[in-house]
Amino acid sequence: MTLEALTVELDVLQIEAEKAFAGAADADALELARVEYLGAKSGRLRSAQKGLGAVQGPDKPAAGKRFNAAKQAVEAAFTAAQARIASLTAARPAGPMFDRTLPGIRPRVGHLHPLTQTIEELKDIMGRLGFTVASGPEIEDEWHNFEALNIPAAHPARDPLENFYLTTARHVGESLRDSQRGSESPDRGKPLLLRSQTSTVQIRVMETQQPPVRIISLGRVYRPDTADATHYPMFHQIEGLLVDRQVTMADLKSVLRLFASSFLGGDVHIRFRPSFFPFTEPSVEVDMSWHDTKTGAGRWIEMGGAGMVDPNVLRAVGYDPEVFSGFAFGLGVERVCARRHNVGDIREFYRNDVRFLEQF
Ligand code: PHE
Repeated sequence: MTLEALTVELDVLQIEAEKAFAGAADADALELARVEYLGAKSGRLRSAQKGLGAVQGPDKPAAGKRFNAAKQAVEAAFTAAQARIASLTAARPAGPMFDRTLPGIRPRVGHLHPLTQTIEELKDIMGRLGFTVASGPEIEDEWHNFEALNIPAAHPARDPLENFYLTTARHVGESLRDSQRGSESPDRGKPLLLRSQTSTVQIRVMETQQPPVRIISLGRVYRPDTADATHYPMFHQIEGLLVDRQVTMADLKSVLRLFASSFLGGDVHIRFRPSFFPFTEPSVEVDMSWHDTKTGAGRWIEMGGAGMVDPNVLRAVGYDPEVFSGFAFGLGVERVCARRHNVGDIREFYRNDVRFLEQF
């Protein structure tokens, strides 16, 4: 081998080795490059060293010098690459990354629906006024939804177009009742419907309990109304009933005022407008108002109905109207909730859009 040939070989080797070491991305790649260039048995530097022995006479010292220079350069390139990769590995340890200084990921916790929150709060307020919670079925018979409430068969409120009568459930009801009470049951074959008001619960409570009665009932009611900003075919009512000796309309108004100011704030005004319900006499519509902070004007919003329990209703459940009197009221839960949170459209409560629900 000539000095010239050896020099060329070493030049090429050095350039390639430096490139390979600089380009090694990790410890494994670097080790492969090390074996190729610096391997003790068959590395390329080792084979160049063998060529060195074949260089003749006076060229020998120059060849040796060139070889040593190349060896040092390649080794230096290797050491530099080793340091580079060591620093990479130190910054990013093996295994999954875990930085305990980063803030945690907050789990998304759900919460109660605004209507449920409202219902809970209403129960709480009325509970403090001494009213206990009563409940009744959502599938009702005509006795509890109408007749006992002084709504006779010919009354327009019983129109099939105004109610959700259940053809199927009627038969289910039949077989349920028949098995419970025997096929001679007087209820056999009577129509059933989704209750259109929570006043049904008044009857159920009074049928099983003697005065004094002081209950509220909260729940779903159903009417075939077209959904709009203030109506929905299913909504919630809170019903209150108080029966005792010498109950007056002043008691009704005080309770409703306390109720309204506890739930909606001290600046709420309430107003009674004469109205009619078959099961109360006299009957009123209950309006509530807030003073507009800009104009100072109050806007009255209808929240529900109320009145003194009609003597016919007391008689229907076996109370003596000469001894006992009572008041009842029924308010829309969606309406009071919407009023409190300034929601303009009660359909929002049923869209299940988390962007809406998250705000409560
Ligand atoms: N049940 C009536 C309604 O749904 C409201 C009401 C309840 C009125 C109790 C008077 C007394 O419209």
